[in-house]
Amino acid sequence: MTRAPVARALLLLALGSSACNAWTSAESGPAAAPARKVKVDRASLPLLELTDTELARFKQGDALFEAIVRESDGLGPLYVRDACNACHVDDGRGPGLVTKMAPSDPSQVELAKLLPFGTTERPYATAGAKTPLLAPQDARLKVTHRLPPPVFGRGYLEAIADRDIERLAERAARRSGSARGRLSRLPDGSIGRFGVKARIATLEQFVVDALSSDMGLSSPAQPDEPPGPEGLRDDHKPGVDFSAEQVALLRDYLRGLAVPERQVGTAQGHALFQRVGCAECHEPELRTRADYPVRALAGVPAVVYTDLLLHDMGEALSDGQHEAGAKPREFRTAPLIGLRFLPSYLHDGSAKTVREAILAHGAADSEGRDAAQKFLTLTPALQAELVSLVEAL
Ligand code: HEC
Ligand code: HEC
Repeated sequence: MTRAPVARALLLLALGSSACNAWTSAESGPAAAPARKVKVDRASLPLLELTDTELARFKQGDALFEAIVRESDGLGPLYVRDACNACHVDDGRGPGLVTKMAPSDPSQVELAKLLPFGTTERPYATAGAKTPLLAPQDARLKVTHRLPPPVFGRGYLEAIADRDIERLAERAARRSGSARGRLSRLPDGSIGRFGVKARIATLEQFVVDALSSDMGLSSPAQPDEPPGPEGLRDDHKPGVDFSAEQVALLRDYLRGLAVPERQVGTAQGHALFQRVGCAECHEPELRTRADYPVRALAGVPAVVYTDLLLHDMGEALSDGQHEAGAKPREFRTAPLIGLRFLPSYLHDGSAKTVREAILAHGAADSEGRDAAQKFLTLTPALQAELVSLVEAL
Protein backbone atom coordinates (compact mmCIF):
# COMPACT_ATOMS: atom_id res chain seq x y z
CA MET A 1 0.00 0.00 0.00
CA THR A 2 1.21 3.52 -0.74
CA ARG A 3 1.05 6.10 1.96
CA ALA A 4 1.74 9.80 2.22
CA PRO A 5 4.78 11.43 3.83
CA VAL A 6 4.27 13.69 6.84
CA ALA A 7 4.49 16.93 4.86
CA ARG A 8 1.85 15.71 2.42
CA ALA A 9 -0.40 14.50 5.23
CA LEU A 10 -0.31 17.92 6.85
CA LEU A 11 -0.94 19.63 3.52
CA LEU A 12 -3.96 17.43 2.88
CA LEU A 13 -5.23 18.16 6.34
CA ALA A 14 -5.02 21.85 5.64
CA LEU A 15 -7.19 21.30 2.55
CA GLY A 16 -10.12 19.82 4.40
CA SER A 17 -11.23 17.28 6.94
CA SER A 18 -12.01 14.50 4.46
CA ALA A 19 -8.60 14.81 2.83
CA CYS A 20 -7.01 11.92 4.68
CA ASN A 21 -9.55 9.52 3.19
CA ALA A 22 -9.12 11.15 -0.18
CA TRP A 23 -5.45 10.35 -0.45
CA THR A 24 -5.74 6.74 0.65
CA SER A 25 -8.42 5.90 -1.87
CA ALA A 26 -6.74 7.93 -4.61
CA GLU A 27 -3.53 5.97 -4.17
CA SER A 28 -4.88 2.47 -3.60
CA GLY A 29 -5.84 2.06 -7.26
CA PRO A 30 -9.35 1.80 -8.70
CA ALA A 31 -9.80 -1.96 -8.19
CA ALA A 32 -8.58 -2.10 -4.59
CA ALA A 33 -10.29 1.04 -3.34
CA PRO A 34 -13.89 -0.05 -2.66
CA ALA A 35 -13.06 -3.26 -0.75
CA ARG A 36 -10.42 -1.52 1.34
CA LYS A 37 -12.72 1.31 2.16
CA VAL A 38 -15.31 -0.96 3.74
CA LYS A 39 -12.68 -2.53 5.98
CA VAL A 40 -11.14 0.82 6.97
CA ASP A 41 -14.54 2.17 7.89
CA ARG A 42 -15.28 -0.75 10.14
CA ALA A 43 -11.97 -1.08 11.98
CA SER A 44 -10.81 2.54 12.11
CA LEU A 45 -13.91 4.45 13.08
CA PRO A 46 -13.96 7.17 15.72
CA LEU A 47 -16.30 6.86 18.68
CA LEU A 48 -19.72 8.12 17.58
CA GLU A 49 -20.04 10.48 20.52
CA LEU A 50 -16.83 12.50 20.03
CA THR A 51 -17.31 16.28 20.12
CA ASP A 52 -16.46 18.31 17.00
CA THR A 53 -13.17 19.40 18.54
CA GLU A 54 -12.27 15.83 19.50
CA LEU A 55 -13.16 14.62 16.02
CA ALA A 56 -10.98 17.29 14.41
CA ARG A 57 -8.04 16.19 16.56
CA PHE A 58 -8.82 12.54 15.81
CA LYS A 59 -8.48 13.28 12.09
CA GLN A 60 -5.19 15.12 12.54
CA GLY A 61 -3.88 12.24 14.65
CA ASP A 62 -5.10 9.77 12.01
CA ALA A 63 -3.03 11.59 9.36
CA LEU A 64 0.08 11.40 11.57
CA PHE A 65 -0.56 7.72 12.28
CA GLU A 66 -0.67 6.96 8.54
CA ALA A 67 2.10 9.27 7.39
CA ILE A 68 5.40 7.87 6.17
CA VAL A 69 8.19 9.56 8.08
CA ARG A 70 11.31 10.59 6.17
CA GLU A 71 14.88 11.40 7.15
CA SER A 72 14.03 15.09 7.07
CA ASP A 73 11.27 14.45 9.66
CA GLY A 74 13.82 12.85 11.98
CA LEU A 75 13.51 9.18 11.02
CA GLY A 76 16.38 7.08 12.41
CA PRO A 77 19.32 6.83 12.71
CA LEU A 78 18.04 3.27 13.35
CA TYR A 79 14.42 2.22 13.05
CA VAL A 80 12.07 -0.72 12.59
CA ARG A 81 9.41 0.82 10.32
CA ASP A 82 8.71 4.31 8.98
CA ALA A 83 5.02 4.69 9.93
CA CYS A 84 2.73 3.62 12.77
CA ASN A 85 0.46 2.34 10.04
CA ALA A 86 3.20 0.04 8.70
CA CYS A 87 2.73 -2.18 11.76
CA HIS A 88 -0.88 -1.31 12.62
CA VAL A 89 -2.48 -1.16 9.19
CA ASP A 90 -6.12 -0.09 9.54
CA ASP A 91 -5.28 0.11 13.27
CA GLY A 92 -4.93 -3.65 13.35
CA ARG A 93 -2.09 -6.13 13.45
CA GLY A 94 0.80 -6.07 10.97
CA PRO A 95 2.20 -6.30 8.39
CA GLY A 96 5.31 -4.92 10.19
CA LEU A 97 6.46 -6.63 13.36
CA VAL A 98 9.18 -6.47 15.97
CA THR A 99 11.96 -9.00 16.58
CA LYS A 100 13.02 -9.45 20.20
CA MET A 101 16.22 -10.99 21.51
CA ALA A 102 17.00 -12.42 24.93
CA PRO A 103 19.64 -14.67 26.45
CA SER A 104 18.26 -18.22 26.29
CA ASP A 105 19.77 -18.91 29.69
CA PRO A 106 19.99 -15.65 31.64
CA SER A 107 22.01 -17.27 34.42
CA GLN A 108 24.84 -18.02 31.94
CA VAL A 109 25.31 -14.62 30.27
CA GLU A 110 25.02 -11.01 31.23
CA LEU A 111 22.33 -9.26 29.17
CA ALA A 112 24.27 -5.99 28.85
CA LYS A 113 27.32 -7.78 27.41
CA LEU A 114 25.37 -9.89 24.95
CA LEU A 115 22.94 -7.15 23.88
CA PRO A 116 24.50 -3.77 24.65
CA PHE A 117 21.98 -1.85 22.51
CA GLY A 118 18.80 -3.39 23.82
CA THR A 119 16.59 -6.37 23.14
CA THR A 120 14.85 -5.12 19.98
CA GLU A 121 16.16 -5.47 16.42
CA ARG A 122 16.27 -2.18 14.51
CA PRO A 123 16.86 -3.50 11.00
CA TYR A 124 16.99 -0.19 9.06
CA ALA A 125 19.70 2.47 9.15
CA THR A 126 19.37 5.98 7.70
CA ALA A 127 20.44 9.58 8.35
CA GLY A 128 24.16 8.80 8.29
CA ALA A 129 23.95 5.44 10.09
CA LYS A 130 25.29 2.39 8.25
CA THR A 131 24.97 -0.47 10.74
CA PRO A 132 21.50 -1.80 11.53
CA LEU A 133 20.91 -3.60 14.78
CA LEU A 134 20.26 -7.26 14.03
CA ALA A 135 20.23 -10.30 16.26
CA PRO A 136 23.80 -11.63 16.36
CA GLN A 137 24.26 -15.26 15.29
CA ASP A 138 24.71 -16.59 18.78
CA ALA A 139 23.45 -19.87 20.14
CA ARG A 140 23.03 -18.23 23.54
CA LEU A 141 20.21 -16.04 22.15
CA LYS A 142 16.50 -16.70 22.03
CA VAL A 143 14.97 -14.74 19.13
CA THR A 144 11.20 -14.25 19.01
CA HIS A 145 8.71 -12.20 17.02
CA ARG A 146 6.23 -9.86 18.59
CA LEU A 147 3.25 -9.03 16.46
CA PRO A 148 1.64 -5.66 16.93
CA PRO A 149 -1.64 -5.82 18.84
CA PRO A 150 -4.39 -3.78 17.22
CA VAL A 151 -4.82 -0.26 18.63
CA PHE A 152 -8.58 0.19 18.31
CA GLY A 153 -10.65 0.31 21.51
CA ARG A 154 -7.55 1.09 23.60
CA GLY A 155 -9.13 4.28 24.98
CA TYR A 156 -11.42 2.02 27.03
CA LEU A 157 -8.39 0.25 28.51
CA GLU A 158 -6.94 3.58 29.60
CA ALA A 159 -10.28 4.73 31.04
CA ILE A 160 -10.74 1.85 33.52
CA ALA A 161 -10.10 2.98 37.10
CA ASP A 162 -6.99 1.65 38.88
CA ARG A 163 -9.24 0.52 41.71
CA ASP A 164 -11.19 -1.78 39.39
CA ILE A 165 -8.01 -3.47 38.15
CA GLU A 166 -6.86 -3.84 41.77
CA ARG A 167 -10.18 -5.53 42.56
CA LEU A 168 -9.67 -7.96 39.68
CA ALA A 169 -6.21 -8.79 41.03
CA GLU A 170 -7.66 -9.39 44.52
CA ARG A 171 -10.33 -11.65 43.03
CA ALA A 172 -7.71 -13.53 41.00
CA ALA A 173 -5.62 -14.19 44.12
CA ARG A 174 -8.60 -15.88 45.83
CA ARG A 175 -9.31 -18.34 42.99
CA SER A 176 -8.93 -22.05 43.43
CA GLY A 177 -8.42 -23.13 39.78
CA SER A 178 -5.35 -22.68 37.60
CA ALA A 179 -6.15 -19.06 36.64
CA ARG A 180 -4.37 -16.45 38.77
CA GLY A 181 -3.24 -13.03 37.55
CA ARG A 182 -1.36 -10.11 39.02
CA LEU A 183 -1.06 -6.39 38.49
CA SER A 184 1.77 -4.91 36.50
CA ARG A 185 2.74 -2.26 39.07
CA LEU A 186 5.26 0.17 37.57
CA PRO A 187 8.05 1.91 39.54
CA ASP A 188 6.07 5.20 39.72
CA GLY A 189 3.11 3.40 41.31
CA SER A 190 0.92 3.43 38.20
CA ILE A 191 -0.55 0.25 36.71
CA GLY A 192 0.90 -1.00 33.41
CA ARG A 193 -1.87 -1.56 30.85
CA PHE A 194 -0.29 -1.34 27.40
CA GLY A 195 2.07 -3.60 25.51
CA VAL A 196 1.80 -7.38 25.49
CA LYS A 197 3.46 -7.43 28.91
CA ALA A 198 1.59 -4.41 30.30
CA ARG A 199 4.79 -2.40 30.59
CA ILE A 200 3.37 1.10 30.00
CA ALA A 201 0.62 2.94 31.90
CA THR A 202 -0.84 5.48 29.45
CA LEU A 203 -1.46 5.92 25.74
CA GLU A 204 0.59 9.11 25.68
CA GLN A 205 3.59 7.27 27.15
CA PHE A 206 3.06 4.51 24.61
CA VAL A 207 3.13 7.01 21.73
CA VAL A 208 6.42 8.43 23.04
CA ASP A 209 7.85 4.93 23.34
CA ALA A 210 6.64 3.78 19.89
CA LEU A 211 8.00 6.91 18.19
CA SER A 212 11.39 6.34 19.78
CA SER A 213 11.85 2.59 19.71
CA ASP A 214 9.98 1.68 16.51
CA MET A 215 10.72 4.73 14.37
CA GLY A 216 13.76 6.51 15.82
CA LEU A 217 11.74 9.68 16.45
CA SER A 218 12.54 11.75 19.51
CA SER A 219 9.96 13.88 21.35
CA PRO A 220 10.08 16.19 24.39
CA ALA A 221 9.48 13.31 26.83
CA GLN A 222 12.14 11.15 25.10
CA PRO A 223 14.61 13.67 23.60
CA ASP A 224 17.53 11.26 23.07
CA GLU A 225 17.85 8.74 20.27
CA PRO A 226 18.22 5.17 21.58
CA PRO A 227 21.88 4.03 21.62
CA GLY A 228 23.22 2.17 18.57
CA PRO A 229 26.47 0.51 17.48
CA GLU A 230 27.83 3.68 15.81
CA GLY A 231 27.18 5.92 18.79
CA LEU A 232 25.18 8.44 16.74
CA ARG A 233 23.42 10.90 19.02
CA ASP A 234 21.07 12.48 16.48
CA ASP A 235 19.62 12.12 12.98
CA HIS A 236 19.21 14.56 10.07
CA LYS A 237 16.66 16.66 11.94
CA PRO A 238 18.43 18.51 14.72
CA GLY A 239 16.72 18.55 18.12
CA VAL A 240 13.41 16.94 18.89
CA ASP A 241 11.66 15.26 15.94
CA PHE A 242 8.01 15.19 17.05
CA SER A 243 6.49 18.03 19.10
CA ALA A 244 4.44 17.60 22.27
CA GLU A 245 1.38 18.60 20.21
CA GLN A 246 2.03 15.85 17.64
CA VAL A 247 2.37 13.32 20.47
CA ALA A 248 -0.93 14.59 21.94
CA LEU A 249 -2.66 14.31 18.54
CA LEU A 250 -1.56 10.68 18.22
CA ARG A 251 -2.77 10.05 21.78
CA ASP A 252 -6.15 11.61 21.02
CA TYR A 253 -6.43 9.55 17.85
CA LEU A 254 -5.83 6.33 19.83
CA ARG A 255 -8.26 7.38 22.56
CA GLY A 256 -10.94 8.14 19.98
CA LEU A 257 -10.82 4.81 18.12
CA ALA A 258 -14.02 2.82 18.64
CA VAL A 259 -14.28 -0.90 19.31
CA PRO A 260 -15.21 -2.35 15.89
CA GLU A 261 -18.86 -3.29 15.75
CA ARG A 262 -19.53 -6.77 17.12
CA GLN A 263 -22.05 -9.45 16.33
CA VAL A 264 -24.28 -9.90 19.33
CA GLY A 265 -23.54 -13.61 19.71
CA THR A 266 -25.94 -16.19 21.07
CA ALA A 267 -26.93 -16.36 24.76
CA GLN A 268 -25.52 -19.88 24.75
CA GLY A 269 -22.17 -18.67 23.37
CA HIS A 270 -21.86 -16.08 26.16
CA ALA A 271 -22.89 -18.65 28.78
CA LEU A 272 -20.20 -21.02 27.51
CA PHE A 273 -17.61 -18.24 27.65
CA GLN A 274 -18.41 -17.90 31.36
CA ARG A 275 -18.82 -21.60 32.12
CA VAL A 276 -15.56 -22.66 30.51
CA GLY A 277 -13.72 -19.94 32.46
CA CYS A 278 -12.60 -17.68 29.62
CA ALA A 279 -14.22 -14.76 31.45
CA GLU A 280 -12.00 -15.27 34.49
CA CYS A 281 -9.24 -13.51 32.56
CA HIS A 282 -11.07 -12.09 29.53
CA GLU A 283 -13.36 -9.98 31.76
CA PRO A 284 -16.35 -8.73 29.77
CA GLU A 285 -18.00 -6.60 32.45
CA LEU A 286 -15.94 -3.56 33.30
CA ARG A 287 -16.88 0.12 33.34
CA THR A 288 -14.77 3.16 32.68
CA ARG A 289 -14.17 5.81 35.34
CA ALA A 290 -16.54 8.77 35.47
CA ASP A 291 -13.77 11.39 35.35
CA TYR A 292 -11.95 10.19 32.21
CA PRO A 293 -11.13 13.26 30.10
CA VAL A 294 -12.85 12.00 26.91
CA ARG A 295 -16.56 12.42 27.73
CA ALA A 296 -17.64 9.65 25.35
CA LEU A 297 -15.55 7.20 27.37
CA ALA A 298 -16.44 8.40 30.86
CA GLY A 299 -18.63 6.17 33.02
CA VAL A 300 -19.63 3.75 30.24
CA PRO A 301 -19.44 -0.06 29.94
CA ALA A 302 -15.98 -1.22 28.82
CA VAL A 303 -16.59 -4.51 27.05
CA VAL A 304 -12.90 -5.20 26.49
CA TYR A 305 -12.58 -8.85 27.51
CA THR A 306 -9.41 -8.38 29.54
CA ASP A 307 -8.58 -8.01 33.23
CA LEU A 308 -5.38 -6.12 32.27
CA LEU A 309 -3.52 -8.55 34.55
CA LEU A 310 -0.40 -10.56 33.83
CA HIS A 311 -0.75 -14.32 33.57
CA ASP A 312 1.84 -17.08 33.46
CA MET A 313 1.10 -18.79 30.15
CA GLY A 314 3.78 -21.46 30.47
CA GLU A 315 7.21 -22.13 28.98
CA ALA A 316 5.99 -22.84 25.45
CA LEU A 317 4.81 -19.23 25.05
CA SER A 318 7.79 -17.66 26.83
CA ASP A 319 9.62 -14.93 24.89
CA GLY A 320 12.56 -14.70 27.29
CA GLN A 321 11.80 -11.01 27.92
CA HIS A 322 11.71 -9.27 31.29
CA GLU A 323 9.72 -6.04 30.89
CA ALA A 324 8.75 -3.76 33.74
CA GLY A 325 7.72 -6.36 36.33
CA ALA A 326 6.66 -9.03 33.83
CA LYS A 327 8.59 -12.26 33.54
CA PRO A 328 9.34 -14.15 30.30
CA ARG A 329 6.26 -16.41 30.58
CA GLU A 330 3.89 -13.66 31.65
CA PHE A 331 1.53 -11.81 29.32
CA ARG A 332 -1.32 -9.37 29.76
CA THR A 333 -4.67 -10.99 28.97
CA ALA A 334 -5.09 -10.05 25.32
CA PRO A 335 -8.17 -7.81 24.93
CA LEU A 336 -10.62 -9.62 22.66
CA ILE A 337 -11.42 -6.61 20.50
CA GLY A 338 -11.92 -6.69 16.73
CA LEU A 339 -10.60 -10.25 16.52
CA ARG A 340 -12.07 -10.72 13.07
CA PHE A 341 -9.54 -8.20 11.77
CA LEU A 342 -6.53 -10.17 13.04
CA PRO A 343 -4.64 -12.42 10.61
CA SER A 344 -3.27 -14.52 13.51
CA TYR A 345 -3.47 -14.74 17.29
CA LEU A 346 -1.27 -14.63 20.42
CA HIS A 347 1.65 -12.22 20.96
CA ASP A 348 3.79 -13.98 18.36
CA GLY A 349 1.03 -14.82 15.89
CA SER A 350 1.70 -18.52 16.41
CA ALA A 351 -2.01 -19.42 16.42
CA LYS A 352 -3.64 -19.26 13.00
CA THR A 353 -7.17 -19.83 14.30
CA VAL A 354 -9.08 -19.01 17.48
CA ARG A 355 -9.23 -22.72 18.21
CA GLU A 356 -5.43 -22.98 18.06
CA ALA A 357 -5.18 -19.94 20.34
CA ILE A 358 -7.45 -21.61 22.90
CA LEU A 359 -5.48 -24.86 22.77
CA ALA A 360 -2.25 -22.91 23.31
CA HIS A 361 -3.66 -21.88 26.73
CA GLY A 362 -3.68 -25.53 27.72
CA ALA A 363 -0.04 -26.37 28.55
CA ALA A 364 0.38 -28.09 31.92
CA ASP A 365 2.32 -25.09 33.28
CA SER A 366 -0.11 -22.43 31.98
CA GLU A 367 -2.71 -20.57 34.03
CA GLY A 368 -5.09 -21.13 31.13
CA ARG A 369 -5.00 -24.92 31.40
CA ASP A 370 -8.32 -25.37 33.26
CA ALA A 371 -10.22 -23.31 30.70
CA ALA A 372 -8.55 -25.08 27.77
CA GLN A 373 -9.38 -28.46 29.30
CA LYS A 374 -13.01 -27.52 29.90
CA PHE A 375 -13.20 -26.30 26.31
CA LEU A 376 -12.05 -29.74 25.13
CA THR A 377 -14.75 -31.51 27.15
CA LEU A 378 -17.47 -29.63 25.21
CA THR A 379 -19.17 -31.36 22.31
CA PRO A 380 -17.84 -30.32 18.88
CA ALA A 381 -21.00 -28.27 18.28
CA LEU A 382 -20.57 -26.32 21.53
CA GLN A 383 -16.86 -25.80 20.84
CA ALA A 384 -17.82 -24.36 17.46
CA GLU A 385 -20.38 -22.09 19.12
CA LEU A 386 -17.80 -20.68 21.54
CA VAL A 387 -15.21 -20.23 18.80
CA SER A 388 -17.63 -18.35 16.57
CA LEU A 389 -18.59 -16.03 19.45
CA VAL A 390 -14.90 -15.22 20.05
CA GLU A 391 -14.15 -14.77 16.34
CA ALA A 392 -16.84 -12.10 16.14
CA LEU A 393 -15.76 -10.10 19.22
C1 HEC B 1 7.71 -1.86 13.91
C2 HEC B 1 6.33 -2.06 14.13
C3 HEC B 1 5.59 -1.00 14.91
C4 HEC B 1 5.49 0.33 14.67
C5 HEC B 1 6.17 1.14 13.57
C6 HEC B 1 4.57 0.86 15.65
N1 HEC B 1 4.13 -0.14 16.46
FE1 HEC B 1 2.78 0.04 17.95
N2 HEC B 1 3.15 -1.86 18.50
C7 HEC B 1 4.01 -2.73 17.87
C8 HEC B 1 4.22 -3.90 18.71
C9 HEC B 1 5.08 -5.10 18.36
C10 HEC B 1 3.46 -3.70 19.87
C11 HEC B 1 3.46 -4.55 21.13
C12 HEC B 1 4.55 -3.85 21.94
C13 HEC B 1 4.81 -4.31 23.31
O1 HEC B 1 4.28 -5.30 23.75
O2 HEC B 1 5.59 -3.65 23.99
C14 HEC B 1 2.79 -2.40 19.70
C15 HEC B 1 1.90 -1.88 20.62
C16 HEC B 1 1.26 -0.66 20.46
C17 HEC B 1 0.26 -0.15 21.37
C18 HEC B 1 -0.30 -0.86 22.60
C19 HEC B 1 -1.49 -1.70 22.25
C20 HEC B 1 -1.94 -2.55 23.42
O3 HEC B 1 -2.85 -3.36 23.22
O4 HEC B 1 -1.39 -2.45 24.51
C21 HEC B 1 -0.09 1.11 20.93
C22 HEC B 1 -1.08 2.04 21.56
C23 HEC B 1 0.72 1.37 19.75
N3 HEC B 1 1.52 0.27 19.50
C24 HEC B 1 0.72 2.54 19.05
C25 HEC B 1 1.64 2.86 18.06
C26 HEC B 1 1.83 4.18 17.50
C27 HEC B 1 1.05 5.42 17.89
C28 HEC B 1 2.82 4.08 16.58
C29 HEC B 1 3.47 5.19 15.77
C30 HEC B 1 4.03 6.27 16.53
C31 HEC B 1 3.25 2.70 16.56
N4 HEC B 1 2.52 1.98 17.47
C32 HEC B 1 4.23 2.19 15.73
C33 HEC B 1 4.60 -2.53 16.65
C34 HEC B 1 4.74 -1.29 16.06
C1 HEC C 1 -5.53 -17.51 32.84
C2 HEC C 1 -6.08 -16.44 32.06
C3 HEC C 1 -6.75 -16.77 30.75
C4 HEC C 1 -7.82 -17.62 30.53
C5 HEC C 1 -8.58 -18.43 31.55
C6 HEC C 1 -8.10 -17.54 29.11
N1 HEC C 1 -7.22 -16.68 28.50
FE1 HEC C 1 -7.17 -16.23 26.55
N2 HEC C 1 -5.45 -15.20 26.82
C7 HEC C 1 -4.82 -14.98 28.02
C8 HEC C 1 -3.54 -14.34 27.81
C9 HEC C 1 -2.56 -13.92 28.89
C10 HEC C 1 -3.42 -14.17 26.42
C11 HEC C 1 -2.22 -13.60 25.67
C12 HEC C 1 -1.27 -14.72 25.34
C13 HEC C 1 -0.23 -14.38 24.30
O1 HEC C 1 -0.36 -13.32 23.66
O2 HEC C 1 0.70 -15.13 24.09
C14 HEC C 1 -4.64 -14.72 25.84
C15 HEC C 1 -4.91 -14.72 24.45
C16 HEC C 1 -6.10 -15.16 23.90
C17 HEC C 1 -6.44 -15.07 22.51
C18 HEC C 1 -5.58 -14.42 21.43
C19 HEC C 1 -6.01 -12.98 21.23
C20 HEC C 1 -5.09 -12.16 20.40
O3 HEC C 1 -5.27 -10.93 20.37
O4 HEC C 1 -4.16 -12.68 19.79
C21 HEC C 1 -7.67 -15.62 22.35
C22 HEC C 1 -8.46 -15.74 21.07
C23 HEC C 1 -8.10 -16.09 23.65
N3 HEC C 1 -7.12 -15.78 24.57
C24 HEC C 1 -9.30 -16.71 23.90
C25 HEC C 1 -9.60 -17.35 25.10
C26 HEC C 1 -10.74 -18.21 25.28
C27 HEC C 1 -11.81 -18.47 24.25
C28 HEC C 1 -10.67 -18.67 26.55
C29 HEC C 1 -11.56 -19.71 27.20
C30 HEC C 1 -11.53 -21.02 26.56
C31 HEC C 1 -9.49 -18.07 27.16
N4 HEC C 1 -8.87 -17.29 26.25
C32 HEC C 1 -9.09 -18.26 28.48
C33 HEC C 1 -5.32 -15.34 29.26
C34 HEC C 1 -6.37 -16.20 29.47
